[in-house]
Amino acid sequence: MIRILFVCLGNICRSPLAEGIFTKLLEENGWQEKVSCASAGTAAYHVGQVPDPRTMDIANSKGVLIDHKGQQFSSEDFHKFNYVVVMDRSNLKDVLAKGGETGKNVFLMRHFDSIDKNSDVPDPYYGAQSGFEEMFHILSRSCKGLVDYIASEHRLLES
Ligand code: 4NP
Repeated sequence: MIRILFVCLGNICRSPLAEGIFTKLLEENGWQEKVSCASAGTAAYHVGQVPDPRTMDIANSKGVLIDHKGQQFSSEDFHKFNYVVVMDRSNLKDVLAKGGETGKNVFLMRHFDSIDKNSDVPDPYYGAQSGFEEMFHILSRSCKGLVDYIASEHRLLES
């Protein structure tokens, strides 16, 4: 099993939505037995909590299921997951402080975005609902790119 962990700050907005979108893509490709994903936050603020209601609203409106409770990233996750995919450069700094290596097992999410590979996934928490809509589109594109990357790296189309 190839295991992917999506990481943001609070684990109630960006990374749970990435987990939901990516899971849906895995199901559409029939790769649930080959690849799995989870999510975590670098901070402990929302451990045990369900995602932000605005995240749930955008997921529901797009047909994406989220079944998640907040959990905090720890250095042990480098042993549990093959890839740690972070939402922004602040997450990247926090994750790399606990181990891992950029481009090897740690990646920025938008590295996989077909339109803009150098930006962060903006944190929508303190903004308007429109930020959640934008987050959905960024994560959808990036998740598609990540699925393609994993499929190519692990030759999923050949087996
Ligand atoms: P997330 O958004 O990192 O995408 O889950 C945030 C959620 C909560 C907070 C910050 C960002 N917070 O400060 O509580």
